[in-house]
Amino acid sequence: MIVTLVTGTRPQIIKSAPLLLALQEGGVTTRFIHTGQHYDFQLAAQFIEELEIPKPDCNLEVGSGTSAYQTYEVISRLERELERERPDYLVVPGDTNSALGAALAGFKMDIPTCHLESGLRSYDMYMQEEINRRLVDHGATGLFAPTKIAVENLEKENVIGSVFLTGDTMYDILQNRLPIFSNSSYQEEEMKKVGISEGSFAVLTLHRRENVDIPDRLTGIMKGLATVSRKIVFPMHPRTKKRLEETGIQIPKNLEVVDPVPYTTMMALVSKSDLLITDSGGLQKEAYLLNTPCVTIRDNTEWVETIEAGANILALPTAEDVSTKALKMWGLKTNNDASVYGDGRAAERIAEILSSGEIQTKRSMMVE
Ligand code: UD1
Repeated sequence: MIVTLVTGTRPQIIKSAPLLLALQEGGVTTRFIHTGQHYDFQLAAQFIEELEIPKPDCNLEVGSGTSAYQTYEVISRLERELERERPDYLVVPGDTNSALGAALAGFKMDIPTCHLESGLRSYDMYMQEEINRRLVDHGATGLFAPTKIAVENLEKENVIGSVFLTGDTMYDILQNRLPIFSNSSYQEEEMKKVGISEGSFAVLTLHRRENVDIPDRLTGIMKGLATVSRKIVFPMHPRTKKRLEETGIQIPKNLEVVDPVPYTTMMALVSKSDLLITDSGGLQKEAYLLNTPCVTIRDNTEWVETIEAGANILALPTAEDVSTKALKMWGLKTNNDASVYGDGRAAERIAEILSSGEIQTKRSMMVE
């Protein structure tokens, strides 16, 4: 059996790492294709090295561009690769343009296509990611849902593929790296590297286009963070760096700007910090699992469990809302129920499903 897995971005590599390893341990032949949507070392190759997964068998080198361009290029370049070696299953993680392009190539070529991290919804159709994941879910043969809420979303929409509640592979990788990043001397070393010696601090990540591509919003967020006037470590995404340089928006002095950090460093920083401020999808969940309170600068979130638990709060991209919410959540003690994201064995479970042929064929998916 051959399983081809396609990634394009940092979070997709992180989510896929445990599955690639579990498939290989189970003796399944894997083919790993990276589309090149993220191509900087710090957003792609760094994680492949760090998480000890094999290098991609092929890089489609799609690069930057509009959503439509990236989707189209992934479809056409991936089709050639899938023709060269036709897999039994194509696995597509997440909600990026690469995910949609890869899934469409699979659907059009009649290759059973499975969605890893299926069933997430923000109900915000202005989000490219919401459109991508809905389309992938409705064409997929196998749907691997990380949470019960994700399963309910899929049931409400009457998807026709087979739905499996598997748990979240991001919880698997977090548990796998826990012995390293929970070690206090490792934590001290990593904190020193980003300029933190002692005392209270927060971690900030910011990359979503609706925050960083709109100068008024980016200015508001920066002003709000300045008002917090406490130390904030900021591993800065290349997109955000470019926007700050282009607009000349001032970075407040309480922000310690560093390059994007490796995954294990990020987990050490978030677990030692008093607050995470972010617009990331994956980091909201990681903060929840590490019992670090979170402020999410977005109108909505797919990770509703984190909000319901009181561990995460949404903020508007304005100076007032960012500073009020950050001060409100700073240092809040939480004791979150990790089991909503599974038991840390999601990848193993998905590898078993793929190997056992439990997923129905396209023919049996035909709508009566
Ligand atoms: C989001 C999008 C996704 C898009 C991606 C672009 C949603 C729901 N999804 O994913 O479609 O492709 O942004 O980047 O919005 N991390 C590090 N080091 C760092 C910063 C982050 O290891 O310096 C890790 C985090 O711990 C986490 C992952 O990277 O595991 C999150 O990546 P991020 O780029 O924030 O992506 P998402 O917001 O999850």
